[in-house]
Amino acid sequence: MGNEWHDVAAPDQVSDDAPITVKVGEHDIGIYALNGRYYALDDVCPHAYALLSQGFIDGEEIECPLHGAKFHIPSGKCTKEPADRDLACYAVKLEGGRLLLQVD
Ligand code: FES
Repeated sequence: MGNEWHDVAAPDQVSDDAPITVKVGEHDIGIYALNGRYYALDDVCPHAYALLSQGFIDGEEIECPLHGAKFHIPSGKCTKEPADRDLACYAVKLEGGRLLLQVD
């Protein structure tokens, strides 16, 4: 797929308390809005299988809806068990009124 930018959403589809999930190739990616910035993280929880974008926002963290693992949205860092692995982060930018995501 290369390091291409993929047009994935309109910015108003994402709000601070309502992330979305998008699919690029075989990746499920969660898109978050936080304090006027956008972030994109792997959406599948590394613990078992849950889509993190369906979890709960707590400040700068997302809490897994299944067993409560937490991840720091700006960095993808796992901050609470039972997950034990960080999430991959993807570059996201706003261009021409659309959100673009870079996935390799
Ligand atoms: S699936 Fe996310 S904490 Fe278990």
